Amino acid sequence: MNFLELFNKHGLIAAHRGARAICPENTMSALKSSIGHCDFIEIDVQLSRDGVAIIMHDETLERTTNVAKIDAYKNRIPYRVCDFTFKELSSLDYGSWFYKDDGYTHSEPLLSLHDALHFIKKHQLFLNIEIKDMHKYFDDEYVVSTILKEIDDLQIQNLILLSSFRHEYLSLCKKKMLNIPTAVLVKNRHPSSLIEYLNTLQADAYHLNDELVDKATVAKLQEAGFFVNVYTVNDLIRREQLFNMGVNGVFSDFLE
Ligand code: G3P
Ligand code: MG
Repeated sequence: MNFLELFNKHGLIAAHRGARAICPENTMSALKSSIGHCDFIEIDVQLSRDGVAIIMHDETLERTTNVAKIDAYKNRIPYRVCDFTFKELSSLDYGSWFYKDDGYTHSEPLLSLHDALHFIKKHQLFLNIEIKDMHKYFDDEYVVSTILKEIDDLQIQNLILLSSFRHEYLSLCKKKMLNIPTAVLVKNRHPSSLIEYLNTLQADAYHLNDELVDKATVAKLQEAGFFVNVYTVNDLIRREQLFNMGVNGVFSDFLE
């Protein structure tokens, strides 16, 4: 089964940044804990200063690492991910922030895209890689080539769905790897001429904020052949409403 065939199942649950309610988001622990509790996993990808793809949501390191506590980095504010080399990023702790001060050590290593992909290949899990918008720091072509190369190296195109708020990345993905499924991410409003727009991008799916969802739009998208997934849905009643509207899947922080 490939990622698009998965969408033939009803009521899919995506583990948003892994099982982030019980583990530090976007870490190996979060991936491991989501196994058996979701239909696919979503993670966020960025590049280090030296071009290594790593898993991290925020543009800066402060919220989800211990960077601000390390003297050697005190002159590196605002702690942008793209200002740190892979070696520097690897020296940080990605776990302790999550557990607060309970007297135990909960350090977590950096998760690289390389390690995440090996993990999902080994366990044959479906993975949605959200490519964060890095256009201010890296050339689009470079970002996309770096990520696609890692997928190609492992030959796991069947397990992957690529998504981004930066839609230029998605056209480039299709140009370079036609068989890789892509999803257009939107937050505050729909692009004008939505269906034509998605066709132009050769997208397979549309990922929208819950606040933007309405039944007519879901129906229109699906009639046109696009899968529809909604983020971030943590309320069970709302989840059922969305599934009753025909939405394919929801991204959730809480897994059963
Ligand atoms: O990909 C769905 C969702 O993750 C998009 O928002 O900010 O949580 O990455 P964000
Ligand atoms: Mg995301």
